[in-house]
Amino acid sequence: NGNDGYDISQLLSKTGNVTLDPGFVNTASCESTITFIDGNEGILRYRGYPIEQLAEQATFLEVSFLLIYGHLPSQDELSTFEGKVSNRMMLDERMRELYRCFPRGAHPMQVLASGVMALGSFNRDTLDVHDPDQVEAASLRLIGSMPTLAAYAYKSSVGEPFLYPQKHLSYVENYLRLSFGTPQEEYEIDPAVVKAFETLFILHADHEQNCSTATVRMVGSADASIYASMSAGVNALSGPLHGGANQAVLEMLVKLREEGVDMKTYVSQVKDKKSGVKLMGFGHRVYKNYDPRAKIIKGHADELLRASGKSNALLDMALELEETALNDEYFIERKLYPNVDFYTGLIYEAMGFPAKYFTALFALGRLPGWIAQWREEHADPSRKISRPRQVYVGETERNYVPIAER
Ligand code: ACO
Repeated sequence: NGNDGYDISQLLSKTGNVTLDPGFVNTASCESTITFIDGNEGILRYRGYPIEQLAEQATFLEVSFLLIYGHLPSQDELSTFEGKVSNRMMLDERMRELYRCFPRGAHPMQVLASGVMALGSFNRDTLDVHDPDQVEAASLRLIGSMPTLAAYAYKSSVGEPFLYPQKHLSYVENYLRLSFGTPQEEYEIDPAVVKAFETLFILHADHEQNCSTATVRMVGSADASIYASMSAGVNALSGPLHGGANQAVLEMLVKLREEGVDMKTYVSQVKDKKSGVKLMGFGHRVYKNYDPRAKIIKGHADELLRASGKSNALLDMALELEETALNDEYFIERKLYPNVDFYTGLIYEAMGFPAKYFTALFALGRLPGWIAQWREEHADPSRKISRPRQVYVGETERNYVPIAER
């Protein structure tokens, strides 16, 4: 535009007719049959099934099957799927060695992304993206290994020994035992905790073209291996504006408590753009209404914290912060509501996970969605490599100046 000194007709003559849409606010990158969101009404459905019904009645592996294969499994299909996944929970011994090499205190998302990538090196007969059998084998390998990879990422960050998965335990039970069990003591399975994690993983399982899923598709479009795409998804998810927000929310609440900041003061700070502070766990690109996942999680947080007998101080703060924000003009005008990450950290914290580990839990839940999206992309015969255009606004032609003359 005239103010910046750029002549739009000149730019267009160089770039051709392109759409400039930073952040892809209005640009659909694909057609999909997996997840439906109506952000104005706060509706989320996987393959047409309302998230509320799935969260209440299904298991995580059932939902994983639904996302990947497109229909609810029969009992036989589900049992076969569970068996195949269970057979792939054990990692190659050398993967365990690899995990031992990470420094204590390494961020679990870095360790997890590396682990997912490394999994491809140990399963080289599942790398051909054009062979449906290899894609199926890689999908099962990834789903089966993810709880072990995520639990080991946690164990390596706290410097505790790794356990082996056990055949008689379910997916979520295995995951909890791998995370909290020790060689000395048998981990006691609490059905209420298992149910809570089934629900949380279901709520995270897919969310159409969010940043990490779009990344998975972007990397996949180059025919990079499925492991490379999933590892890229983990990395994208780690950012605090995306999945990393669950860690950031808890850190925000803890800081407010330590510094004795009251909620009204904090909301005023957030409204002042110069402060550079955001209300973490609030706002969403698509939801301009209450995030339906947050609604379900909020109910569970209250229930679980009460049942665990843990202090509810942080939950009370979160509830007060939510109420303060939802009654504030700034948030009302911009339609900013709590998103999926606002309440999850409180549950994870009550279960004993450190904040740094929260986003790895998100990744474990999101994996089947990433796989379903990757497979949908690859099943499309008209698919193309993702390659956005740009509008060049840099220098026009200049002559090179030798270094001595600069
Ligand atoms: N706190 C304060 N102000 C906010 C917040 C927030 N959390 N979120 C959005 N806003 C404001 C913006 O400053 C902007 O104000 P303006 O119109 O005066 O410029 C307006 O609301 C619109 O926000 P955008 O940043 O344009 O919305 P966008 O869709 O680009 O970003 C995002 C969405 C990244 C989620 C943003 O709301 C945010 O940063 N939230 C906090 C981080 C977070 O919770 N991320 C998790 C999202 S869920 C997920 O990925 C799993």
